[in-house]
Amino acid sequence: MINGSGEHGAAQTRFGTRIGGLLAAAGSAVGLGNVWRFPTEAGSGGGAAFLLIYIAAMLLLGVPVMIGELAIGRHGGKNVSHSFFAMSGGRRAWGWMGIVPVVAGVLILSYYAVVAGWTLDYFVRAAAGGFALSANISAGGYAASFAAFSSSFWKPVVCLAAMLFLTAAIVAFGVKRGIERASKIMMPLLFVCLALLAVCSLTLDGATDGVRFFLHPDFSKITGGVALSAMAQAFFSLSVGIYCLCTYGCYFRKDVDLVRESLSVAGIDTLVAVMAGLVIFPAVFSAGIAPDAGPTLVFITLPEVFQRAFGGAPVFAYFFSLAFYLLLVVAALTSMISMLETAAAIFIRKYKIARPAACFAMAALCTLLGIACSLSFGAWGGVRVAGMGVFDLFDFLVAKVIMPLCAIVTCLFLGWVVEKNVLRDELTNGGTLRQPLFGFYRLLVRYIAPAGIAIIFLNGMGLF
Ligand code: PHE
Repeated sequence: MINGSGEHGAAQTRFGTRIGGLLAAAGSAVGLGNVWRFPTEAGSGGGAAFLLIYIAAMLLLGVPVMIGELAIGRHGGKNVSHSFFAMSGGRRAWGWMGIVPVVAGVLILSYYAVVAGWTLDYFVRAAAGGFALSANISAGGYAASFAAFSSSFWKPVVCLAAMLFLTAAIVAFGVKRGIERASKIMMPLLFVCLALLAVCSLTLDGATDGVRFFLHPDFSKITGGVALSAMAQAFFSLSVGIYCLCTYGCYFRKDVDLVRESLSVAGIDTLVAVMAGLVIFPAVFSAGIAPDAGPTLVFITLPEVFQRAFGGAPVFAYFFSLAFYLLLVVAALTSMISMLETAAAIFIRKYKIARPAACFAMAALCTLLGIACSLSFGAWGGVRVAGMGVFDLFDFLVAKVIMPLCAIVTCLFLGWVVEKNVLRDELTNGGTLRQPLFGFYRLLVRYIAPAGIAIIFLNGMGLF
């Protein structure tokens, strides 16, 4: 029976184990952002030099917000709305913050599901051997096939709906039996795929050129713009700013060290991003193809790269493609699980709607919005809102507006509204843990992080 433990609405719903909570949070952080966005940004943004800025941004901006979201969530223990209310010392107005995860969760899930659907289609195609360099796929054929697929109606829509309803089916089982159990299975699977792929890729001829392109430090490439994109990447990648981690924080056990947990999630997230680069670039250079950026890389360049890189051994090419797209599907799913929980949790835990009903209703709503996002690559390509297609508009609203603004609000809330002792209590688990850097943390959330994030935001809006 779903909800056998009476999970919906129960204030004491928690992750069963420490590792379960950690893997769920890491699953949220590790997603499509790591596998294609990070490696290309790093490759073209100065390699190891980019990595250094990324790590600094993560530690100074991303991790403090993550610690704060988890602390707020765990302090209240029910849902985002109640948590802000409780942490503020009982000020009702802060309860309105509960609206953010619903709106942001629905928006992000709707467009993320489109790309997740593409990964599903590519996984199925890889399984059917559809990428083999045969008579019917010639040079340029991969680009044409992606264009035809992404601009069509039915296939992408069926794929995005499949990913959404699969996510809903997992989340419907509840925090422990759905989210935690799925994370415990999927995260190790993701690591195994990634490690195997990295080993294969690094042993290809010419792999060192790829590693050099990816990691060679080139400080001349570091401009203000690159620094800002490194910060923005750190943010999106850590899943901070839409109260996803605040939602998960509600389920964290009282004895968990939130600071250590946040550093672990950031460490895992960075490790996966770097490993993804070590899979992609050696293969790209070995195949002698230009390292193109973003979605083009994953859906157009890589299918061809894998075939050419393992040209002498088609069996390898087959399994390499299969494992790579499986990796993408799994990474997308664990992130979607956290998005759906974020959007649905308030309805389940505050308004006592049955968990399965809330999950499937959200999936249906996101499917409808997702169709609009998907169509912006095809039939609705001409529909423009503020100069953007629907997909880009959703991405803009979430990543460039909601995330930075909410992160600033979180910092200011922690630094100026929450009582110092309440915050210290939450981070030291009632005085049982030592947090020698607490003073520095408070300084970060009061001044440094909000100022840093404000710079990203204003720059993103083109204001300076
Ligand atoms: N961090 C995820 C990724 O890298 C995206 C995400 C953002 C997930 C916000 C949940 C919340 O793909």
